[in-house]
Amino acid sequence: MSIANSSSGGNISISQLPGDVSNSLSQRPKGADLVAHQARVDHAVLRVHEVGVAFGGVQALSGVDLAVTMGTITGLIGPNGAGKTTLFNVITGLQVQDKGQVILDGEDISRLKPHKRARLGMARTFQRLETFGSMTVFENVLTAAEISKSWAHRDSSSAKDIAIRAIDRVGIGALANQRADSLPVGLARMVEVARALATNPQVLLLDEPSSGLNEEESVNFANLLIQLAKEGLALLLVEHDMEMVMRICAFLYVLDFGKLLAAGTPEVVQANPAVQAAYLGSEQ
Ligand SMILES: Nc1ncnc2c1ncn2[C@@H]1O[C@H](COP(=O)(O)OP(=O)(O)O)[C@@H](O)[C@H]1O
Ligand SMILES: [Mg+2]
Repeated sequence: MSIANSSSGGNISISQLPGDVSNSLSQRPKGADLVAHQARVDHAVLRVHEVGVAFGGVQALSGVDLAVTMGTITGLIGPNGAGKTTLFNVITGLQVQDKGQVILDGEDISRLKPHKRARLGMARTFQRLETFGSMTVFENVLTAAEISKSWAHRDSSSAKDIAIRAIDRVGIGALANQRADSLPVGLARMVEVARALATNPQVLLLDEPSSGLNEEESVNFANLLIQLAKEGLALLLVEHDMEMVMRICAFLYVLDFGKLLAAGTPEVVQANPAVQAAYLGSEQ
């Protein structure tokens, strides 16, 4: 059985996973996995090197390596509680790591505050929505466009035009004047994507962006991500929709209990027995 088949089951909690946790913690990508990762490091615009984070007694991340390249969609997958959102927080500066480095364009940005990282071209969306509810869709995105224009003149268009373009791009042009808190969650997520795009990022991190979208919206969204990658953007995607992940990601990293369990092309990762065990734990 492929892990693609597990997507309909949705989120798998740690309590459903098999065996002894310490046993799982001892699993590291090795051999071909490390070679495949290493081959990406030289071209990486964003790198995570040996990152570790503990929350009290919980080791949320341990020795995590990751490389994100321009013009591709890199997937980050793993069961609930694996550490994916924590890793996004480390990359964007919302969570200070205990160990390791985050490297952007060859520079160690580990000590930079989130807004400084954003200025360097890093944008994200949140698993838990972070839109301004009482503002319209347009105002939400305009805020980001204005901030980004104040940083640099990467785009000669007005902030208003940048915002309109970003809103149209994610397919919610018709909703521009609606309050953000009036939208269903899937479309509110698209507001976050538009807001991220309005900052003209070079790296875009998406934390479960398609949850709440219907099937047609998901397909359109996946096509948008493919198009953004074609235009040169580096995307890092956390996503539970395995069909989408397998179809659009060039390379995958699999986290389990805060450690990398596997890394490789979707085909290689899908065929990995340890990955299948992590996803299909209740059946092992
Ligand atoms: N701020 C926090 N304080 C304490 N524990 C946290 C915090 N954030 C995350 N965790 C814990 O860290 C682990 C990883 O969580 P998270 O990064 O949200 O996983 P994922 O996004 O893969 O579902 C979980 O055990 C979670 O309970
Ligand atoms: Mg998460």
